[in-house]
Amino acid sequence: MSTTVVSGMRPTGRLHLGHYHGVLKNWLRLQNEHESFFFVADLHALTTHYEHPEGIRQSTWELLVEWLAVGLEPEKATLFVQSWIPQHAELALLLGMLTPLSWLERVPTFKDQQEQLRDRDLATFGFLGYPALMSADILLYDAAWVPVGADQVAHLEICRELARRFNSLYGRSTADAEAAEAGLRALGKKLKQQYQRLQERYQQEGDEAAIAQAREILHGAASINETTRILLLAMLEGKGRTILIEPKALLTEAAKMPGLDGRKMSKSYGNAIGLREEPEAVRKKLLTMPTDPARVGRHDPGEPERCPVWPFHQVYSSTETRAWVMEGCRSAGIGCVDCKNALVEKVLEEQAPIRERAEDWAAQPQRLREIAAHGAEKARTRAEQTLARVREVMGLDGG
Ligand code: TRP
Ligand code: SF4
Repeated sequence: MSTTVVSGMRPTGRLHLGHYHGVLKNWLRLQNEHESFFFVADLHALTTHYEHPEGIRQSTWELLVEWLAVGLEPEKATLFVQSWIPQHAELALLLGMLTPLSWLERVPTFKDQQEQLRDRDLATFGFLGYPALMSADILLYDAAWVPVGADQVAHLEICRELARRFNSLYGRSTADAEAAEAGLRALGKKLKQQYQRLQERYQQEGDEAAIAQAREILHGAASINETTRILLLAMLEGKGRTILIEPKALLTEAAKMPGLDGRKMSKSYGNAIGLREEPEAVRKKLLTMPTDPARVGRHDPGEPERCPVWPFHQVYSSTETRAWVMEGCRSAGIGCVDCKNALVEKVLEEQAPIRERAEDWAAQPQRLREIAAHGAEKARTRAEQTLARVREVMGLDGG
């Protein structure tokens, strides 16, 4: 079955409503439609938070609690903790052998994050290798689809390139590999070197001129027979047996749920409402949200399109309520407090059962461990199959 979905979330703190309306609702749908693996990416959290193991330990369980509270079901999706499956670390190490440094250094998040998180030392091997670890997460489960936000697309692109590179390096039979090796020798030292350099330029940088030039060399080489020529041509493009499956990004829609100030909801902007936040705190946050500045006083009309409260109504309110807001705001028929109170009610209504279920789960640590252990068991079985293939072609099967 090639409809497997894999995704992970880093345990670096509590979830907020932005996560719920973006990522999690998407996962809830996917668990019904695909074979799904969702994991707590604790190793990924360590790449940036290696000085704070206590926070990671705590957030790992909180994350699992919140997933279960919103309705992810261990009977449908495989829920597990990344570090419990050592195959993630092993495949990441092996992929690292063939990951060009230039690919890692080129990832936009690498430099961005280093600049944004200046208080942390991110000039580490682990942080640079983040995309290789993420690739391992995905490739271990033969994922066809990876639901991610736009910020992760560059990582996914590396995963796809790594799968291709891996298959081109190891995806042939020993007989093919030997024939290719002999063919390259037959080309002569100079042409062989040129071929390899052009092949690398094409496979690592997608340089079309390089592959064209390499094809010319092969077509012009009199020292190889037709079978060898075809083999070397195929190798140029990295065609080979598929050992690792190239996944595709399943882009999560851009945040439907903005923050209290209209920017993207994010803990670091201080504009978030926690998924399980106390009702009184939620009420206070919503009631003190900025509104359309044109509504200086109760009798000044406003425009919902210019108000950060409006997108919340679009997520939470019925058509009637939205019409009531539109009309009442533009005519100054309603006050901002009325408008916000209608929203508060809806948000609290959504959160109440989530908060309740979360408390329930949090009170059953033993049950949580069982779920994580069961998920790990299923994940490990799958991961080990992939890793056996990988070890074999990389010469590590002890044969
Ligand atoms: N890097 C992802 C993020 O920060 C988390 C993640 C780790 C992930 N491994 C993954 C997502 C594999 C999808 C697939 O959001
Ligand atoms: Fe915003 Fe509602 Fe006030 Fe209009 S009435 S400005 S939409 S809070």
